[in-house]
Amino acid sequence: MTHVSPAQNQSGSSGNGPAAAAKALYGGTGSRRITVRDISAAKERGEKWPMLTAYDAMTASVFDQAGIPVMLVGDSMGNCHLGYESTVPVTMDEMTLLSAAVVRGTQRALIVGDLPFGSYQEGPVQALRNATRLIKDAGVGAVKLEGGERSAHQIELLVQAGIPVMAHVGLTPQSVNAYGGYPVQGRGEEAAQQLLRDAKAVQDAGAFAVVLELVPAELAAEVTRSLHIPTVGIGAGPDCDAQVLVWTDMAGMTDGRVPRFVKQYAELRQSLGDAARAFAEDVVGGAYPTAEHSFR
Ligand code: KIV
Repeated sequence: MTHVSPAQNQSGSSGNGPAAAAKALYGGTGSRRITVRDISAAKERGEKWPMLTAYDAMTASVFDQAGIPVMLVGDSMGNCHLGYESTVPVTMDEMTLLSAAVVRGTQRALIVGDLPFGSYQEGPVQALRNATRLIKDAGVGAVKLEGGERSAHQIELLVQAGIPVMAHVGLTPQSVNAYGGYPVQGRGEEAAQQLLRDAKAVQDAGAFAVVLELVPAELAAEVTRSLHIPTVGIGAGPDCDAQVLVWTDMAGMTDGRVPRFVKQYAELRQSLGDAARAFAEDVVGGAYPTAEHSFR
């Protein structure tokens, strides 16, 4: 398996000489699986890192070979992979199946499995039962769940049981029915103070990292400065410790409009459609298969 060498990592993200560069989450030379301790060490070094979602083994293997150090088997699979209108219908069976595929497709990345809506809201014991299933049956190295103060007891019990937890505050998409959409969070003094309390609560409960979704950039910067665990931004400005994007948005695979915070790095939807049309035209016109593709 190939990984990005430090020399290829032109961003010099770690900025502390060759030893730190070798350990870098992105561009480092280590080939064992990334752990949550590596994530903590990156915050201490002031190193920024990328995270992408993944929902299948083949796509995950592409990202692993590109050196992406952390992959989230997000419940965004609901919209991006399973054809649902939101993340709400995603089940533990679906999450376990797809998480196991992503684990099988990767060798280096830390794989984080998302706890779907309804799999942890009843309380810490339900959260522990479902997180344990993702750890044992799918082989993920950590789980993610949504909510700040309201999810602190769940996080505490999982961490006590030895399960690393990534928290998620700001916009929590599983609450889409309560929000009536996907509004920016933390605007205004009171909402900003609540977001700071939420971020602090998940850190105190033992989370190793926290996603900040759709939060004003200045507030995200303040949260990042005030926590000792890394913040992973999505629509939260440039000052978070890490950035995550849904891979289908990042690669231009998503149909229709993508949120304003997304930067598209490819036009996969166009390329794949072009390939399918070229294949169809060859078949219809008799240009494929030829002798070269046939057996004697
Ligand atoms: O499910 C998901 O993809 C997520 C990210 C947007 C953070 O929660």
